[in-house]
Amino acid sequence: MKAIILYDALSAGGSTDRIVDAIGEHLVKNGFYVEKAKTLPRADYGFLEEFDLALIGSPIYNLQLSPNLSGALNQSNLLKTLAGKKVATFIICGGPELSAAFLYLPQLNLRLFRSQIIAEKIFGLAEKNNPQSPIDFAEEILRKMSVPQN
Ligand SMILES: Cc1cc2nc3c(=O)[nH]c(=O)nc-3n(C[C@H](O)[C@H](O)[C@H](O)COP(=O)(O)O)c2cc1C
Repeated sequence: MKAIILYDALSAGGSTDRIVDAIGEHLVKNGFYVEKAKTLPRADYGFLEEFDLALIGSPIYNLQLSPNLSGALNQSNLLKTLAGKKVATFIICGGPELSAAFLYLPQLNLRLFRSQIIAEKIFGLAEKNNPQSPIDFAEEILRKMSVPQN
């Protein structure tokens, strides 16, 4: 299985990088081929065709998705390329997971209504610094993709 993690963050080496790497490493450990790519607003996303699954995640800054990810959703062929594809979405934020489920996750999931969202996760106040959380999310993805786990 081939997966790509699409994400953006204003920081380097912050929570987003750490969580993206932990998810990716667990998928690789279970036999996935994984690439990661930061989203650019005006890129051509045609290369996504070759992937079985796209994970799409963003931290929240000032109530919104990271600017280069929302730029890609608004200005590129990203959504069109992901239509009909399996996707897993995740949000990284400082607030509680419960409010993030209403305020932030829909900013991503509503845009992806033409894709097949197989899993979603909020890494907020309770989950962001728990090293098991990205692994649990990766395992949910493996189950949904029907991959036997190591
Ligand atoms: C400038 C700024 C604005 C933020 N705004 C929000 C916000 O509106 N809601 C929220 O839940 N968290 C907010 N946060 C918290 C971040 O989403 C959280 O720290 C996240 O881990 C940042 O990801 P990063 O470490 O990869 O940059 C904000 C953080 C920063 C630095």
